[in-house]
Amino acid sequence: MSLKIKSCCFRSLRKLLPLALALALLPACRGEEAQDDSLRIGVALYSQDDTFISTVAQNLERLAQEEESRIGQKITLLVSDSRSNQTTQMDQVDRFLNRGCDVLCVNLVDRTAAAVIVDKAEAEGVPVIFFNRQPVSEDIQRWDQVYYVGASAPESGTLQGQLVLEAWMDNREQWDRSGDGVLQYVMLEGEPGHQDSLLRTEYSIKALTDAGTEVERLARDTANWNRAQAAARVGQWLEEFGEQIEVILSNNDDMALGAIDALGETGRPMEDWPLIVGVDATAPALEAVEKGQLYGTVFNDSRGQAQAMIDLALALYEGEDPARAVDLEESHYVWLPYRKVTRESLGELRTD
Ligand code: BGC
Repeated sequence: MSLKIKSCCFRSLRKLLPLALALALLPACRGEEAQDDSLRIGVALYSQDDTFISTVAQNLERLAQEEESRIGQKITLLVSDSRSNQTTQMDQVDRFLNRGCDVLCVNLVDRTAAAVIVDKAEAEGVPVIFFNRQPVSEDIQRWDQVYYVGASAPESGTLQGQLVLEAWMDNREQWDRSGDGVLQYVMLEGEPGHQDSLLRTEYSIKALTDAGTEVERLARDTANWNRAQAAARVGQWLEEFGEQIEVILSNNDDMALGAIDALGETGRPMEDWPLIVGVDATAPALEAVEKGQLYGTVFNDSRGQAQAMIDLALALYEGEDPARAVDLEESHYVWLPYRKVTRESLGELRTD
């Protein structure tokens, strides 16, 4: 395919409301408009209402635009929102393939659906980059043009556990309210079955117990990554356990913000709040860190993930070796590092 400088037409992700309408309005791809030399990337999101996912999508949009001006390759993003419905996402993937997209970026609703998507894409010769929701390795190995861009779930759990450990060691009198030397906690979990829920839950506690901290879990429940659901859970736990809760560990920032909402509702002074930690370093979470409501979070590099997808997509489109474009592990995986964030380290964080 020839490379020509053309202007790009990106659509505001926020404006893509009902999917059917959105896709009907999107520019046609190869199948319907073969003469266009644009690199067309079909981006299937599990839910655009998810704060972290919408940040990745915004970064994709911005970086594609920047890359287009830099190298002069027209890039068109087609974005779909499945609203947490795997059947809808399958239809969207079919639609992307029918429209001749050159590369697919898929944020699965259900990790077990990966094999079907790989087979459909392979039949059309269209590479697939999964992101954020990691398919099992058998599905990734199914075809050599399948990739995963993400961050290591155990690492995020370990770093979150270390944040809690550091606070617990540095300021035991403040956080060990009962003074019994045991860390009493509640755990807000993301969607059941999501690798980030399972492994953050496990590894955050492992970091504490490996360091010899005695812990006691008062309650755990899923709040599906969602702020309002987390506020409701924590509201109940505060009624049930009151001041016994010393630490609230949350698998992501949105749910940590829900915990903060629930504590705010009680009218309890902030100095008497439990220690709260999240994961992602989203903009509202960083504000909460600044205000001292959220003790810390773990930076989940949405920009780095978006950049890796654009770099991979371009390399695949241009027939280049993807390993020259990105840091590829085991021929299929691109891993972005996580980082701990507290009030002290806020200034070092690049959130652009
Ligand atoms: C993020 C969550 C997000 C989830 C969506 C996780 O990596 O930390 O904030 O809700 O991905 O799949």
